[in-house]
Amino acid sequence: MKNMKKTLALILSLIMLFSAVPSAFAVEVSDDWAEKWSDYETEIAPAVTMFPGSDESERYIAWYSDSPEGYVELTAFGETEIFEAESKASPDGGYRLWAVITGLALGEYTYTCHSGDFISESYSFTVRGSGGFTALYVSDIHMSIEDENKSSLIERSYTYNETLESAVGKTEDTLDIIISGGDLASEGLTDEYIALSSPDYMKTIPFAAAIGNHDRKSIGYKYYTALPNEADFTFKSYIGTDYWVRYGDALFLMFDSCNTSMREHYRFTKQATKANEDAKWIIATMHHDMFGGREDWLYTENALLRFLWTPLFDEYGIDLCLYGHSHYYSVSNVIYNNKTATDLAGTGGIVDPAGTVYLSSASVNNFAPLLTDEGTVPPIGENAAFTYLEGQEPIYTLLEFTEDSLGIKSYTVDTDKEIYSLSIEKSDKAGGHTFRNTNWLLKGFTCFVSRIVNIINNYDMYKRYKDQGYDVSLLEGLIGS
Ligand SMILES: [Fe+2]
Repeated sequence: MKNMKKTLALILSLIMLFSAVPSAFAVEVSDDWAEKWSDYETEIAPAVTMFPGSDESERYIAWYSDSPEGYVELTAFGETEIFEAESKASPDGGYRLWAVITGLALGEYTYTCHSGDFISESYSFTVRGSGGFTALYVSDIHMSIEDENKSSLIERSYTYNETLESAVGKTEDTLDIIISGGDLASEGLTDEYIALSSPDYMKTIPFAAAIGNHDRKSIGYKYYTALPNEADFTFKSYIGTDYWVRYGDALFLMFDSCNTSMREHYRFTKQATKANEDAKWIIATMHHDMFGGREDWLYTENALLRFLWTPLFDEYGIDLCLYGHSHYYSVSNVIYNNKTATDLAGTGGIVDPAGTVYLSSASVNNFAPLLTDEGTVPPIGENAAFTYLEGQEPIYTLLEFTEDSLGIKSYTVDTDKEIYSLSIEKSDKAGGHTFRNTNWLLKGFTCFVSRIVNIINNYDMYKRYKDQGYDVSLLEGLIGS
């Protein structure tokens, strides 16, 4: 059996090595999925998407339209309510509209989007209440255009839909929110975000994503998203910024780790945590993996990111940090002061951890190689508690929040295996956290230097967007907008 697995791993790696597109495979999509995409203009192109509001009582609904004016019609409890949309002109043509639905109570709702001649399908969602809830975590979904027609978008969105379907099935249709660590797209193109929104789950379950380095390659993300509680600081990325979402007892801090300026991230975290002092759990999501290891080329970057970010997480008592980027799945030990505070290897549960657990999800579509170019198994990070080489199928993680505990369970999609499970219990809000910044001596210096680096990075992005033909002002390109 062991030899069989090794042989299979070797064959898969060789296939990847000699494939024209090393990290993506042709996928056989279902007839239903192909048919859905055949009605591209009305079914797919509007890319109706549900984003979270500040809490469970709000939702943002966004869609592309030829018209700058529109509204969402919401029906529930035998009554209909109209929510007017705002809009922004997309540089790719047309508009992205969004309406904020407010005042949602527990119950079932149905909505349609209206603008110009367009009337969307009718979509139904449920507000379930905040006592306990389940969040899905996926990362590096990587919609990608690889051919003249849309076949790669159809295939990749199908794989994403299969992933969502598996997760929704596990929760018996009670999935409350989808969290992603970014790289939704591969080139940051509007067509990629349109494909991302093609699963109906994206229209009925709020979707909160952090910005990935691939999202930053163009400006699609900026016009695609409509998000609550965005940070109001000046030095940010051109396409977006940090924002927070509150769900039940959990505060989700969605960081733009492509913005290197730690001063802004500290300021944002202070504001968000102050506005949510009663939140028992604090979950950070960002793009860049720090403790997973596996990728030699990320070694220096990861060390630098750990130096910058882990003191922030120590200071604010972050319980769990979700990220991706490496495309390798791993869960760290409990980390404090950039070191293992408690070894979690072989452990199924922990009470009042004195630090943060970091989870890196694999990619939904771009599977990382099982072997290095030298034919060896990629080395794991020294602080990793659990790792899993995914092979050729997506992995997703369910976060089950109850009154006292956070259950983390990760699954494969095609083989439908539970690959990891951990329960974190906290006896009160503080749990085992000490809330001490472990880099207080250098905090001011790192904030200053990282802001300079951000300005340089943003200037590079400004030039890139100009080269792509977008009308970006120099000021906007440097400080974000
Ligand atoms: Fe990625």
